[in-house]
Amino acid sequence: MGAARFVIVFSMIFVTGGAGFIGSNFVLDWLAAGGEPVLNLDRLTYAGNLANLAALQGDARHVFVRGDIGDAPLLARLLAEHRPRAIVHFAAESHVDRSIRGAGEFVETNIVGTFRLLEAARGYLASLPESARAAFRFLHVSTDEVYGSLAPLAPAFTERHPYEPNSPYSASKAASDHLARAWHHTHGLPVVTTNCSNNYGPYQFPEKLIPLMIVGALAGQPLPVYGDGQQVRDWLYVKDHCSAIRRALESGQPGQTYNIGGGNEKTNLAIVHTVCDLLDELSPRADGQSYRAQITHVTDRPGHDRRYAIDARKIERELGWRPLETFDTGIRKTIAWYLANPAWVQGVQSGAYRDWVQKQYGAPTEARA
Ligand code: NAD
Ligand code: TYD
Repeated sequence: MGAARFVIVFSMIFVTGGAGFIGSNFVLDWLAAGGEPVLNLDRLTYAGNLANLAALQGDARHVFVRGDIGDAPLLARLLAEHRPRAIVHFAAESHVDRSIRGAGEFVETNIVGTFRLLEAARGYLASLPESARAAFRFLHVSTDEVYGSLAPLAPAFTERHPYEPNSPYSASKAASDHLARAWHHTHGLPVVTTNCSNNYGPYQFPEKLIPLMIVGALAGQPLPVYGDGQQVRDWLYVKDHCSAIRRALESGQPGQTYNIGGGNEKTNLAIVHTVCDLLDELSPRADGQSYRAQITHVTDRPGHDRRYAIDARKIERELGWRPLETFDTGIRKTIAWYLANPAWVQGVQSGAYRDWVQKQYGAPTEARA
């Protein structure tokens, strides 16, 4: 009888940043796949949007808490009350252009916030009995941008590529990866880190390339391509990223990092052309012209990384993960989703989003420069 007091029944996972783009897709897919209930902590910055989680309204398996990952007492209380078997850490400031305009929030959330979360996890882990400690995981979600920029013909990033972050965003993520690594190495926290390439798909805030182009095209606005548009990214459909995270959570080895990528290297200009061509097919302009007519080349991003490419053979070999979508199928689904969800688009276009677009691109006529 007495021993029963020490039995821990894990019944939850703890997700941070679950109202953002990838986090909300992860929560929706996790629960749809019959995963345990989710405790979702999100500060609801401009990028956090509860409309992403509207399908879970009234669903007792989703417990949402508005709060900051930097709030140590809150973290300690939530962990003690909900006793999750894992933390899946998405919360971050995630947009490179914003980090160039001001890096303070990136340092606060991505570095200090991750530090506080690691510390809270360490304290929580120490309170668990041995058997429960062995099962616990801290999954740290990171980016390929920590590796820096590749020359045109250089081999894709492996997990052993040196860290060479170039933007304030990628530097802050690199710092968080180093903290996560050290908390495993020194404190034995069972951390698994994933480094993923550029995501696209439903619920992505239209400050990032693909949704910005879709939403801007439909609104008749100029489509701003930075510099020559020949920068290369490796695109992954968000639901494939979510399946990779589920796999890493299930079978990833503590202390290991796993690169995740779609094997879809494309130049930015090719991406914008594809978006325009699909919109021409699915929602043609009233004047019969192509959306490509709206493309405009604007001043390049300072310090712009030229190329990212992911070698995802480790996660394929060791955890058996592969993406399901090709770029062709994923981009078609994505555009169809934005066309089918004008109310969501309208919601994010109000308020903070408008202010940001104004600051970043100036008045619409300036963006044509
Ligand atoms: P996002 O900007 O869409 O969402 C971030 C979420 O974190 C938002 O809901 C926001 O409200 C929340 N948040 C921000 N600061 C917080 C804080 N201090 N406390 C609690 N919540 C806070 O970002 P995303 O694109 O969904 O990215 C999620 C994670 O995946 C990030 O860690 C990012 O670095 C990483 N990642 C993103 C991509 C990509 O292409 N988007 C690629 C690889 C890795
Ligand atoms: P982004 O979606 O911001 O992701 P990241 O910078 O993290 O890769 O940008 C993707 C690429 O598209 C990047 O090379 C910058 C470029 N870009 C534009 O050309 N125009 C834009 O308006 C934006 C937002 C991005």
